Amino acid sequence: MHTVNFTRMEDGTREEYEFLDRKEQEFTAGLPDRIMASLRKLEHSISGYRINRLEHSLQGATRAQRAGESDEFIVSVLLHDIGDDLAPYSHSEMAAAILRPFVSEKLYWIVKHHGVFQMYYYAHHCGGDRNAREKFKDNPWYQDAVDFCHNYDQNCFDPDYDSEPLEFFEPILRRVLARPSMEDPEQVARYGASS
Ligand SMILES: [Fe+2]
Ligand SMILES: [Fe+2]
Repeated sequence: MHTVNFTRMEDGTREEYEFLDRKEQEFTAGLPDRIMASLRKLEHSISGYRINRLEHSLQGATRAQRAGESDEFIVSVLLHDIGDDLAPYSHSEMAAAILRPFVSEKLYWIVKHHGVFQMYYYAHHCGGDRNAREKFKDNPWYQDAVDFCHNYDQNCFDPDYDSEPLEFFEPILRRVLARPSMEDPEQVARYGASS
């Protein structure tokens, strides 16, 4: 079988859906390669800062790695702005959606809201509310999100910082994307536990 026969999903057979399931698994196996390609494209993202978005992401990930953070944490930093290219109005949510199966619920939440937390550093210069993150002040992960932005985002625009290259993070990225997060029972139920 090279393709299914149906033109309406309701007409598909079990055999066809088993075939499509295998095709989907093959395609999903290419996810790390597609994420690497997307990260490379950040080199040509938003201009005006002293370094490009890829260098910003590498600087954050390098700081996280040198601070002894976990692989999941490092990858969350590396990918936190991957949505800049296609989701300029909701880049945090896009990055969080990509990471969701592979990281803890806490890291998912931090990445999803990092844009709001990051506003603390600049919104008051542009007529916005720098304290918009206060709406999350009762969340148990509030301080973790504050720290994420303070240590691995707002301070990562330094052209003199000796960041590791993208290739350094590739094996870490592949390890994290190889299985769903073991900390999240909902994800384990959906994708199955890995050994
Ligand atoms: Fe961001
Ligand atoms: Fe950022």
